[in-house]
Amino acid sequence: MGAFQLPPYPHDKIGYIKTLAADNNRQLIDLSIGTPCDPPSHDVQESLAQATAANGYPPSIGSAELRLAARQMLARRFGVNLDEEELAMCVGTKEFVATLPLFLSLRHPGKDTLLYPAVSYPTYAMGAEIAGMRAVPVPCDDNFMMNLESLDKDDLDRALLLWVNSPANPTGVLENLEKLTSFAESHSFILCSDECYAEFSDPQSRDSVLRYKKENVLAVHSLSKRSNAAGLRVGFYAGDQNLVYFLKEIRKHAGMMIPGPIQAAGVVALGQDAEVEQQWDIYRERLSCLVDILDSIGISAELPSGAFYLWVKAPERYLEDPTFDRSDLGPGWRFAEDLARYGGMLVSPGDFYGPMGADYVRIAAVQPLGKLEIIKNQFIETGWSYR
Ligand SMILES: Cc1ncc(COP(=O)(O)O)c(C=O)c1O
Repeated sequence: MGAFQLPPYPHDKIGYIKTLAADNNRQLIDLSIGTPCDPPSHDVQESLAQATAANGYPPSIGSAELRLAARQMLARRFGVNLDEEELAMCVGTKEFVATLPLFLSLRHPGKDTLLYPAVSYPTYAMGAEIAGMRAVPVPCDDNFMMNLESLDKDDLDRALLLWVNSPANPTGVLENLEKLTSFAESHSFILCSDECYAEFSDPQSRDSVLRYKKENVLAVHSLSKRSNAAGLRVGFYAGDQNLVYFLKEIRKHAGMMIPGPIQAAGVVALGQDAEVEQQWDIYRERLSCLVDILDSIGISAELPSGAFYLWVKAPERYLEDPTFDRSDLGPGWRFAEDLARYGGMLVSPGDFYGPMGADYVRIAAVQPLGKLEIIKNQFIETGWSYR
């Protein structure tokens, strides 16, 4: 195997797009990163303010109170009841997603393949790269749902695990988790379900893979989005008791632990549900506002089934532009450039999420309505429209 080629971090590549807004005297409104702009609840902030000296090492697995709060949250919100040994904490979920293949490949050296949705959060594939594994994208259908039937038998035989993310970043699509558990079982690989947006969809469509199965299954949850607490770095994983045991032990060896005072704040955040519902209302309002802004410039966009992103196809003019010879950059880049240039709207080009997303952009509803209004007015001032 050749030396690992360090790729640029996706969001570092859009620096030049930011300057396009400034060059055209537009105020830049950043909708490119899925980072919450709203504060965590008062009680969470209060808990942080009251933190005492943290002289001792915190438990890597998470304090008993924190793990109990996580289990209680799963029981309240998803009707999933877990034993103590079936859940442990992680330091936010990005590090867990990135290191899971490495750790699991030590346990299953015979399996060298990671399956992940072809249009998805980039860290799934990066985790395979870090582990020196094959990252095999699962093609999506026209609705951006995974088409597992199209996978090669060889890839399925070699698969250690499959990632699913529902509701999905960037598309907002909901997958059928029950069907996926049966598929994973029939092909004997581990099903890893990233559920960090699971509470940001309509109550009747909220789901966890753990409602169907625990054996050979892991669900991953985060406080970053549900509690506007990305800065705290609190997440957890739950499911198969043997997998949780292996992971909690190896992660303890590696020194992965949430700082003690943050663990206490995590207990508070996990106990709160009304705040999550309010936040989902806020995101829906912003998403609708963004749909209206796009409509005002002649772009039709659909509200997602879940999560807080709009996944928007570039207009025909970018898809068919023969003068656009930067073959390394898809139509989504040209679209993103003009949204910044004429509206000050900074979005992510869709190929951040895989080559199948190249014709799209992702717009995150992470700015207050007042900031979205600025975008609307800037489009009006420049008269920019796709009509
Ligand atoms: C699908 C998905 N999974 C995981 C994460 C990581 O979240 P965190 O590390 O803050 O828990 C993100 C963050 O954007 C995400 O979109």
